[in-house]
Amino acid sequence: MYDFDEIVPREGTCSRKYGDLKKINENASDDAIPMWIADMDFRCAPEILIALHQRVNAGIFGYSSADGRYYDALDKWYRTRYGIEIKREDVVITNGVVSAINHLVKILTSPGDGIIIMTPSYGPFDRAAKGAEGRVPLYSRMIYDKGCFGIDWEDFEAKAKEPSTKLFILCNPHNPTGRVWDRAELERIHAICRENSVTIISDEIHSDITRTGTDTVSMLDVARDDPTVAVCTAPSKTFNMAGNAMSNIIVRDPEVRDALRRACSASQSPFSLAATTAAYEHGAAWVDAMRAYLDSNFEYLKAFLDREFPQCGYVIPGATYLAWVDMRFTGLDNKGLEDALAKAGVIIEAGGSFVDNADGFVRINIACPRSVLAEACERIKNAFKG
Ligand SMILES: Cc1ncc(COP(=O)(O)O)c(C=O)c1O
Repeated sequence: MYDFDEIVPREGTCSRKYGDLKKINENASDDAIPMWIADMDFRCAPEILIALHQRVNAGIFGYSSADGRYYDALDKWYRTRYGIEIKREDVVITNGVVSAINHLVKILTSPGDGIIIMTPSYGPFDRAAKGAEGRVPLYSRMIYDKGCFGIDWEDFEAKAKEPSTKLFILCNPHNPTGRVWDRAELERIHAICRENSVTIISDEIHSDITRTGTDTVSMLDVARDDPTVAVCTAPSKTFNMAGNAMSNIIVRDPEVRDALRRACSASQSPFSLAATTAAYEHGAAWVDAMRAYLDSNFEYLKAFLDREFPQCGYVIPGATYLAWVDMRFTGLDNKGLEDALAKAGVIIEAGGSFVDNADGFVRINIACPRSVLAEACERIKNAFKG
């Protein structure tokens, strides 16, 4: 029904992923395959495209803000998929999760406060902490064992107990490792943070993109009786419309919510509103088909790595479309890995982009048609086996 094998041309669309790849890596071959920034190469769900066409046909694109239908669609998605209710008054619509996190860091902490980040980490968490005057990022290194990452509980608790620690930015599920946190782990994180008056921001932007049969649990569910937890959700990854720059931040603490609202625009793009409403109303079948396609892309990649580079010990993650691959056997540093792969025609990001505890790993975005993935695997083989 949906054609995820289709090669959708990106020329002339201002795509950052496909822009001047030599700016990303000066060694990029002219035909390099971009597998770095986290958007997908799949055409959006037809229902979203229809809604956008209809919105264009309306002909006027004045200041706009979400209506009841928008909030109902959002609530229905979360009730159906997560069993949780999203109350309209708790939602702050922002033009992206990263900008929301930047604001929230400033709202929730003061100069001198410590902010826990689990590493390896999505880079903007670190930049949000460092970009707010006097805040101190505290890296709790995840433990890597047999292809999987886990929390170093002793270290995490010790950091939470530091009197100056005030905030934890959780990535649920985790980018770049793709790790899905189970309910018991989330309950333990929440208990530790609550005991030590550490507020949690839970970035759940990847939560819908799980392997078929795998679920994620929202911190909204775990922390039902704790209004301090802020949860970042968005349609951007799920429906491949990150360029619409729209996210729904659930903030149940009224003071924090008002502060975040004051920091953000009261208007949203009319196109983002139309696309998001259609996505949450009608996009479920597309999302599930896309997840099934990703399942087989991951199986393809794993079979390739097991055959050609068994030293990676690669394990398919529970969530995201990002493969986090241990390339330490090559002996190359992060830049060396990026350069070797760019020369071979694949643009990826290696450990240096992921803050700390990431050296020798590469993140490969495999949300692309199978034929593209197959070609990329050949090139990866050539990069290291010549
Ligand atoms: C964990 C995480 N949070 C946020 C973002 C970006 O969010 P936005 O585009 O809404 O700022 C990404 C994009 O890759 C991400 O992986």
